[in-house]
Amino acid sequence: RKPRIAVVGSLNMDLVISLQRMPRMGESLQGDDIHYISGGKGANQAVGCAKLGAEVSMIGAVGDDGFGAQIMKRMNDFGVGTDTIAVLEAPTGTAAILHTEGDNCIVVVPGANGLCSPESIQSHAGVIAGADALIVQLEIPLPAVEAALRTAREAGVRTIINPAPAVRLSEEQIRLGDCFTPNETEFEFYCGSPAASEEQLFAQMRSWRDRFPQQTLIVTRGKRGISCLDGDEIVTVPAPIVEVVDTTGAGDSFNAALCFGLASGWSLERTLPLAVKAASHSVTVFGAQDGMPLMSDLA
Ligand code: RIB
Ligand code: NA
Repeated sequence: RKPRIAVVGSLNMDLVISLQRMPRMGESLQGDDIHYISGGKGANQAVGCAKLGAEVSMIGAVGDDGFGAQIMKRMNDFGVGTDTIAVLEAPTGTAAILHTEGDNCIVVVPGANGLCSPESIQSHAGVIAGADALIVQLEIPLPAVEAALRTAREAGVRTIINPAPAVRLSEEQIRLGDCFTPNETEFEFYCGSPAASEEQLFAQMRSWRDRFPQQTLIVTRGKRGISCLDGDEIVTVPAPIVEVVDTTGAGDSFNAALCFGLASGWSLERTLPLAVKAASHSVTVFGAQDGMPLMSDLA
C-alpha cells in the first residue's frame, strides 16, 4: 500500500512579486510581475508527499475567504486529504514573497494558521496515529505542534520536525522529533552561534548529537546539498548543479521526500539522495508546489 503521511502545519496564499533586486530600507522599487500561488510550509510539504505517491492528510486551517477556497481546491487537485483542514472565521494565512533570480525574502501573516490549537489537532489524533510518519514545521502555534508530536510518539509513529521558521523550542519539544531538519541559518539559531567554516558546522552537529543522541540531524545547505549526522558519521550529500528559477519551497521539497522515504521504511542511504534530488528539481520550476517532483522526475 501507499505510505501514509500526516502533515500538521500551515497553509498560506503566497503573493509572489518578482523583481530585479531586493529593495533597500526606505527604497521604492518597481516589480516585474505578481502571482498568487498556494503555499505555506505545511501545505507545500503535503503536496510534495502526495506528488511522490503517498496518501496524505493535511491537518491545519484556512480562513473563510477566497484565498482559503483556492487553497482547498489546489490541495484537492493534488490528491491531498482535506477533511482535516478547518475553515475558520479569520483571514487565510498570507505570505508576501519578494522573488529575485536565485533568492527570496518572505513575510508571513499567519491568520487562520495562528488559531490552530492542541484541541483542534487532537480532534484528528486518529489520523496521526494511523500514519506511517508525521511531519511538522513551525508556522502554527507551538502548543499545536507539540500536541501533534506527542500524539505521534504515543502511537509509535515516526516524526520529523522541520524547525522552520526558527522559533525557540524547549529541549523536551526538540526530543519529540526522530528527525530534525533545520537549514544552516536555522541551525545557527538553535545552536546560538554561527559556524564560520564547515569544520565548525560539523563540530556543532556533533555537539547537537551529544545533547539529542536519539535524533537524526539533517542540516540543509542550499546549493551545497545536505549534511546528516546519524550515529557517529557525518554524511554530506551534494546537490546537483541546476539552473535556479525559484528557490521557494526547496526546503519543503527536501522535507517531503525525506518524509516519504521514512514513511516507506527506507534507509537514510536510500532516502537522502532522493530528497536532495527532489529539492534540486523544485528550484528549476517557478512556485513552491508546482516545482515539487513526481517520483518519475527523480529516476
Ligand atoms: O517554505 C516556503 C513557504 O514559506 C512559502 O510557500 C510561504 O508560504 C512560506 O510559508
Ligand atoms: Na520552486
